[in-house]
Amino acid sequence: MTLIHSIDRYAVLGHPIHHSLSPVIHAAFAAQTGQHLSYEALDIAPAELSATLSRLPREGYRGVNITVPHKEAAWAFARQHGKLSDRAALAGAINTIAWDDAGLLGDNTDGQGLINDLQQRHGLQLRGQRVLLLGAGGATRGVVLPLLAANPAALIIANRTAAKAEMLAQLFSSKSETTAIYGCGLDALSADTNRHGAFDLVINATSASLNGAAIDLPPGTLTAHGFAYDMMYGKVLTPFLDAQKTAGVLHLADGLGMLVEQAAVAFALWRGVTPETQPVYRALRERLARH
Ligand code: ATR
Repeated sequence: MTLIHSIDRYAVLGHPIHHSLSPVIHAAFAAQTGQHLSYEALDIAPAELSATLSRLPREGYRGVNITVPHKEAAWAFARQHGKLSDRAALAGAINTIAWDDAGLLGDNTDGQGLINDLQQRHGLQLRGQRVLLLGAGGATRGVVLPLLAANPAALIIANRTAAKAEMLAQLFSSKSETTAIYGCGLDALSADTNRHGAFDLVINATSASLNGAAIDLPPGTLTAHGFAYDMMYGKVLTPFLDAQKTAGVLHLADGLGMLVEQAAVAFALWRGVTPETQPVYRALRERLARH
């Protein structure tokens, strides 16, 4: 029997997934733009991912978001069974899939979401700035290309394990003619700022905040007007932002805005209409404060 679905279906796939705010965000976008669709959270064990991605388009799904721990495995699936956008190909991880008559497209909207949050919500201009990106895992890989496209003067990837940062910088080194990009260990940051000057922006893309751990940056890592950003978010300041506040940094932001912005880029890819993010961001911030 063929099931006919009267509305387009979307979902976020993760494991676990109960904490996901994506259903709330996409329901708000759909209501705001008058789009008729459904969006669910599906808890999919890693062993079930491939079978699920093969099955969903037959069940009326037009797209999914992909979250922890599936971003890399979904990238491999998309590469094998469909196409990857340029930004997703280099990222090695995807957070969005769209199905249409042409087949499957894997995309990564995290980096554009970060840029939109930094530039539009927080009013930062990245052009000509010195940017420090902490971490060398999947979260970092997903945002390097869009960061380079914003033309900072320098993008330094610093990681606890220096070799991983160096490898990542090397991978992206040919992707910009205007931005100096290199990798180093967290322990080499002091020497770097002494030599090249302080940073205008530091972005924490490590998973340290997940474990309640802060990252100690040497004094003077940021300029007096520098901005500290954590891709993680929560009800209270993340350990990273808390440490930066204690160190006297005045401009701080967590990743809630990035979450909403990456969702908006995915929604636009699926529906061809870009939702307004600010009301949804405000509602989520209030919701976080209450829970
Ligand atoms: P993700 O996909 O979220 O980026 P990942 O690929 O496991 O996750 O990468 C986690 C990143 O956080 C790594 O860069 C890791 O540093 P190492 O490469 O040295 O392991 C970094 N990280 C995790 N906990 C950290 C901590 N307590 N201090 C500093 N860096 C940390």
